[in-house]
Amino acid sequence: MHHVSAAGPLEPGPLLDGDLTLALVQYLPGRPSEGYVPMYRFHMRRASDGVRVGEVDLRIGLTERLHAYGGNVGYYVDPAFRGHHYAARSVRLLFALARAHGLKELCITCAPENVASRRTCELAGGVLVDIVPLPADADDPEPGRTMTCRYRVDLAAADRDRRAP
Ligand SMILES: CC(C)(COP(=O)(O)OP(=O)(O)OC[C@H]1O[C@@H](n2cnc3c(N)ncnc32)[C@H](O)[C@@H]1OP(=O)(O)O)[C@@H](O)C(=O)NCCC(=O)NCCS
Repeated sequence: MHHVSAAGPLEPGPLLDGDLTLALVQYLPGRPSEGYVPMYRFHMRRASDGVRVGEVDLRIGLTERLHAYGGNVGYYVDPAFRGHHYAARSVRLLFALARAHGLKELCITCAPENVASRRTCELAGGVLVDIVPLPADADDPEPGRTMTCRYRVDLAAADRDRRAP
């Protein structure tokens, strides 16, 4: 088991990719005794005018529930602003912060029928690990959801990709 540092918030530095920028809006330190890991929430903003286009969460660590269906990352793009890969690009922008906390990989989950989210996982460098049943006691499941796709992003490999010419 590798070391995951819960100490935070860390200063994420400028998070900018072309027309997309991320702004930190919330950090929750986590409550280990209640099963909550630390969480960063960012707004995705259009860099040119600061308009909020969506949001992305990074959770530092995995509880049993997060490993079963929540994952390390959550994202949402407002319907009017979809079609620019903002979610996948946002996840990539958060790799350095995840590494700074000692994470070696990210688990990203979604419903099997959520094609946009599955594609987002792939575009973020995720590899499908398995498709597992949603636990019967899952918190706040999407209506009708019974299964969860689990993708793994190898942060060391993602780093090599980034440095590749
Ligand atoms: C998932 C979500 C964040 C993606 O938004 P986005 O970053 O704007 O993504 P894009 O619209 O650019 O689409 C990303 C990819 O999915 C594909 N895609 C999107 N909708 C699709 C659909 N209905 N069918 C097939 N492919 C689709 C796009 O073509 C693109 O892939 P490509 O470049 O290879 O063609 C957005 O759809 C959303 O907010 N959905 C609701 C919330 C949600 O599902 N969150 C994830 C929970 S796990």
